[in-house]
Amino acid sequence: MLSKVKSSAKLIQDGKLSYEWARSHMQILDNTINRLKKSKPLKGITLGFCLHITKETSVLLMGAKELGATVACCGGNPLTTQDDIAAFLVSQGIHVYAWHGQSVKEYDWCIDQVLNHKPTILTDDGADMNVKAHFDDRYKNMKILGATEETTAGVTRIRAVEDQGKLRYPVILVNEAYTKHMFDNRYGTGQSTVDGYLRAMNLLLASKRVVVVGYGWVGRGVAARCHGMGSKIIVTEIDPVKALEAHMDGFEVMPMEQACKIGDIFITCTGMTSVIRKEHILQMKNGAIMGNVGHFDVEIDSKFLLKESKSVKRVRANLDECTLKNGKRVYLIGEGRLANLVAAEGHPPEVMAQSFSNQILSVLYILKNHAKIGNKIINVPEEIDKQVAVDALKAMDVKIDKLTPAQVKYAHSW
Ligand SMILES: NC(=O)c1ccc[n+]([C@@H]2O[C@H](COP(=O)([O-])OP(=O)(O)OC[C@H]3O[C@@H](n4cnc5c(N)ncnc54)[C@H](O)[C@@H]3O)[C@@H](O)[C@H]2O)c1
Repeated sequence: MLSKVKSSAKLIQDGKLSYEWARSHMQILDNTINRLKKSKPLKGITLGFCLHITKETSVLLMGAKELGATVACCGGNPLTTQDDIAAFLVSQGIHVYAWHGQSVKEYDWCIDQVLNHKPTILTDDGADMNVKAHFDDRYKNMKILGATEETTAGVTRIRAVEDQGKLRYPVILVNEAYTKHMFDNRYGTGQSTVDGYLRAMNLLLASKRVVVVGYGWVGRGVAARCHGMGSKIIVTEIDPVKALEAHMDGFEVMPMEQACKIGDIFITCTGMTSVIRKEHILQMKNGAIMGNVGHFDVEIDSKFLLKESKSVKRVRANLDECTLKNGKRVYLIGEGRLANLVAAEGHPPEVMAQSFSNQILSVLYILKNHAKIGNKIINVPEEIDKQVAVDALKAMDVKIDKLTPAQVKYAHSW
């Protein structure tokens, strides 16, 4: 098998157990796969995935295989691959190019390996694979029917490609589905960020001042969950509406220039570059802890922390102590990369079941409708989004009301 992962019998067995655990908690995805697998709608199709290799992702990849696809995948980030899951997937005949702790060059090589399988549909998280497929000459003649994009940062990048008039196949923005961003970005990242920070530092969250940088979907979830753990929340924003929302949600809102001096813990959630800069870090309290959960490792000036500190010491598995030239010691989680995936396991399966149901249904939609869509970006069709909500409620055994005929009549009586 043309795959490159760390492997051993123990890793395969651990990965299998994690896959089974996740699948048993991803009922809606499991139901979708079981419903479709008899007709093998992906038979003869090669799918290329660039996703964080977690137990939840393994359910999506195994599902794609059960629907008949040939599956090739790489990780969505150099530090987020869970090696046991990668080893298990290879044992199941999936082409995997991912291992934990890659260099940026190795990560890039892995994307090339997936593209070398000539996938006809791509599923991306952050748009690294789609950008390569568009701008690397080696792939410019490759026939690609379409792609899907999982996260906000990837949506921004793929929109830029469309704005330049360079999009060469349809892309469905899975992140834009309500049943994705309202749940995955908010509740998924909210919970897994607390998990990642606790595993990295194992300090008390109650009473600490937690600075949440960015109050979008991710920031709202992170702020709510840290607040629930007893932290005092400070929000920094650049958008007046989001800032107002954070203020009315009961949180302190202030510029980073002010927050940097009083925060104990910092969590960047913006998708923007350089939101915690050298001038902020130098003013932080001794002992301040920083981490990022935005997609790329550009939000905190980790280069300044890791390269220009007087000394850097790894004090826990994913925590670096940086002694600054001014004598203060500050801490960085997971080298400034996705703390919830580097220091913990990413989102819980119930949430990813929604995101990945959107993914698999969007892939099938592209297969059927790519010619009709054209070289355009579209959101997840409303019928898919709604269906995922209906399936999720069913899986959670939640029942809701229906409009009565009198209510329907009333609604149309104006
Ligand atoms: N860690 C994960 O598992 C995970 C999951 C989902 C999304 N993400 C990533 O998290 C990031 C945020 O996603 P989102 O869905 O919340 O996006 P969003 O657009 O809803 O929110 C981003 C917020 O950051 C604010 N912002 C931008 N620049 C800022 C600055 N300089 N200072 C303060 N605030 C600023 C924006 O105004 C916006 O409110 C993206 O990179 C996304 O890809 C990560």
